[in-house]
Amino acid sequence: MKLLKKILNIPIVWNTLQGVVGANTFKYAMYPSVFKSRSGKLLDFGCACGNSTEAFLDFDYWGVDIDREAIKDASKKFASYPNVKFEWADLAQAPYKPDFFDHVLFAGTIHHLDPRLLPLFIKNLLVSLKVGGELHIFEIIRQPQKDNFITKLFLHLDQGKYIKTESELKAIFKQEGYKIAETQFFPSPNSLIKLPDFVYFRIIK
Ligand SMILES: C[S@@+](CC[C@H](N)C(=O)[O-])C[C@H]1O[C@@H](n2cnc3c(N)ncnc32)[C@H](O)[C@@H]1O
Repeated sequence: MKLLKKILNIPIVWNTLQGVVGANTFKYAMYPSVFKSRSGKLLDFGCACGNSTEAFLDFDYWGVDIDREAIKDASKKFASYPNVKFEWADLAQAPYKPDFFDHVLFAGTIHHLDPRLLPLFIKNLLVSLKVGGELHIFEIIRQPQKDNFITKLFLHLDQGKYIKTESELKAIFKQEGYKIAETQFFPSPNSLIKLPDFVYFRIIK
């Protein structure tokens, strides 16, 4: 199991597997569905290799990640789009472009972050937003009563060590005093492989 986890930790292997099991198709439909407008400046924080970029080509798009190789790959892939930029940044160090964005997408990343740092990340992401801008948080959740064997295996093999339940996430947000404007539950498609479900939170600055 340890060796399998090591192999799956290689970004290209994990991304390919995500594509094969339909996770990327599911995300392409889910992420943009919560946006009320299809324009403006969008920060995709934790963009990895530009996994979701294709769903946001009508925005002025900035993809940011701490992984230099991923940023290099993504820049190459989308080089022909003048409205799409990728940059390296570490959100634990400082906010990225304060008061600049209309939307921030923070997707599938919380479970990769040390929970003690989560308030700092969210604070820095809110600093990047203009007043009235929207922070869109998507996160996979653990559902011990509902997850089947395959879903549990996926959760176990994920590189993120901090996968939470929906109520754990809500408790953290409540404790930090975030004003959640909207919450949605997104069940993943129940095909051959049942992937983890997602929850969504909208925070307006
Ligand atoms: C699982 S990926 C999410 C990919 C994509 N958003 C999605 O939904 O498929 C999490 C990303 O967060 C990035 N990340 C983790 N810590 C970071 C930090 N301190 N600053 C910037 N990016 C970070 C990782 O490098 C990784 O690419």
